[in-house]
Amino acid sequence: MVRETSVGTADLILPFFACPGTGVARAVASMPGVFQHSVDRLVEAARAAADEGIPAVLLFGIPASKDAIGSCAWSDDGIVQQALRALRTALPDLVLIADVCFCEYTDHGHCGVLDGERVANDPTVANLARQAVSLARAGADIVAPSDMMDGRIGAVRSALDAAGFEDTAILSYAAKFASAFYGPFRDAVASAPTFGDRRGYQMDPANAREALREVALDVEEAADLVMVKPALPYLDVLCRVRQRFDLPLAAYQVSGEYAMMHAAAGHGWLDYDRCLMESLIAIRRAGADLVITYGARDAARLLAKGWTP
Ligand code: PBG
Repeated sequence: MVRETSVGTADLILPFFACPGTGVARAVASMPGVFQHSVDRLVEAARAAADEGIPAVLLFGIPASKDAIGSCAWSDDGIVQQALRALRTALPDLVLIADVCFCEYTDHGHCGVLDGERVANDPTVANLARQAVSLARAGADIVAPSDMMDGRIGAVRSALDAAGFEDTAILSYAAKFASAFYGPFRDAVASAPTFGDRRGYQMDPANAREALREVALDVEEAADLVMVKPALPYLDVLCRVRQRFDLPLAAYQVSGEYAMMHAAAGHGWLDYDRCLMESLIAIRRAGADLVITYGARDAARLLAKGWTP
């Protein structure tokens, strides 16, 4: 009766990795329970998640080939576009969120077009807009730019509107930090940069006020939902964003946060179920409306059994 915060299955978003082929469910070593799925298997897994009450999925792609600019990302036949079409048909009520970024699609692993060793902001933004339109055309309800270029939310909004996708929403990775906790994700999609790092475009972990400026810019450019990422190491940022802005707020419990809990549990040092649920309640307490987590199905099962801390 006196509990201040709750977490429910309806608050959770489950990420998926779509890969070419059929019948493929390739385990990601550093993320127990997470797979690279071919489209057919992804639909099965998404159906199981939807049956457990998870309302939304977030899609990433492992393309058949990569190039210098990541052109597979805006191909209407791209891997995520295929997954979106299959999911849209099979599961009409599932909310489909598509990540918008190039690091999975470029052969150098950076999140955009290179100019020497730098990512060139404006040419990258133009390509992001093309990718977002292609994803909307394939059936995405929400596009989620995770690249951290400047001006991309406004450009994506204009491109979507011009293409007739006024109703496609934008979930902005507004405060995305240059984090070591993304390590296992880069294994999952083979997107580690071949040189340098992402500190030129992702945020400095030391900066919380700057995070508020980043969110303010994306709100001005017409983001519909905003995100803080990673989650647990940045609860203060989450809390401050919640206090300052009234848009729906998402937090991403990233690959490294998930891998840490599993690794420790594997040694018998932590109880995975309890740590997962405690971290989710903490993320909600700090102010997140929605939590993106690889543990969404585990949480759904625990909640269905009447979990209490
Ligand atoms: C793409 C992207 C990344 C993640 C989500 N979108 C990786 C990165 O920025 O290197 C990380 C998600 C996770 O670690 O679970 N830019």
